Amino acid sequence: MTIVLHFTPDPENGRQVYDICARCHLPEAWGTEDGTYPQLAGQHRSVLLKQLLDIREGRRRSPLMRPFVQPRIVGGYQNLVDVVTYIAALPMNPAHGKGPWPEATPEYAQGKQVYQTNCAACHGQQGEGDDARRIPRLQGQHYAYMRRQAIDAKRGLREVDPGMSSVIIKLSDEQIALALNYVSRVEVPKQDLAPSPGWRNPDFSEVEK
Ligand code: HEC
Ligand code: HEC
Repeated sequence: MTIVLHFTPDPENGRQVYDICARCHLPEAWGTEDGTYPQLAGQHRSVLLKQLLDIREGRRRSPLMRPFVQPRIVGGYQNLVDVVTYIAALPMNPAHGKGPWPEATPEYAQGKQVYQTNCAACHGQQGEGDDARRIPRLQGQHYAYMRRQAIDAKRGLREVDPGMSSVIIKLSDEQIALALNYVSRVEVPKQDLAPSPGWRNPDFSEVEK
């Protein structure tokens, strides 16, 4: 995103700015399996930034988060670029929420097909997304979160890329669930993952409450 290109990111400042976010997203930014909170760690910077701005400016509904990302709380673009740079580099939750159908099931195979036919052209074969095209990484994201977002998009409750809308409105809710089951089960590259589910962000070790 052009905004990112115009600022030199300062991850150390990003860590400071992240204090505001950590009260909800927690120091690890790993989200919750029930899908209330997304995994932010490891998401592309351009995607994080767009979502932040969409929520800040009311294009994407999040009454909970919106007040905290107003300029007088979180600051200007430099702070936003810094915080997304910090978050994108955090190691991801090695035990994210997966869909209900394991690899040996027919549903898994069906979902793989739905995904490859309808979603992979944008989100990538492995759900890796694309920073330059501002396409979210789905790999490693909680299944329940993705499902809620995709169904919201289908119902017009969350505005997404028109290309995605035109694809998703033609699919049943079940087909969407199957596709997301598949992508929730692709392997995340090891180097992007935290060493264990018990890993705690050392940048926050002194602020234990
Ligand atoms: C009061 C709680 C709260 C605070 C504080 C908060 N968030 Fe959030 N954030 C949420 C919730 C809840 C969602 C999920 C919204 C939804 O379900 O659509 C979210 C979603 C997001 C998303 C969208 C991710 C995606 O892939 O869809 C981003 C990016 C994000 N938050 C970044 C931040 C950053 C950066 C900060 C700090 C500057 C922050 N949030 C502060 C609660 C919060
Ligand atoms: C034409 C490209 C395109 C296609 C095809 C597409 N998507 Fe997307 N998708 C996007 C973009 C771009 C976004 C980010 C939208 C935004 O800016 O809020 C997105 C967002 C999402 C999100 C929300 C992620 C998050 O972190 O908030 C999910 C889940 C998702 N897509 C699933 C799917 C599924 C499942 C399919 C196939 C059935 C699909 N998409 C097809 C481009 C696409």
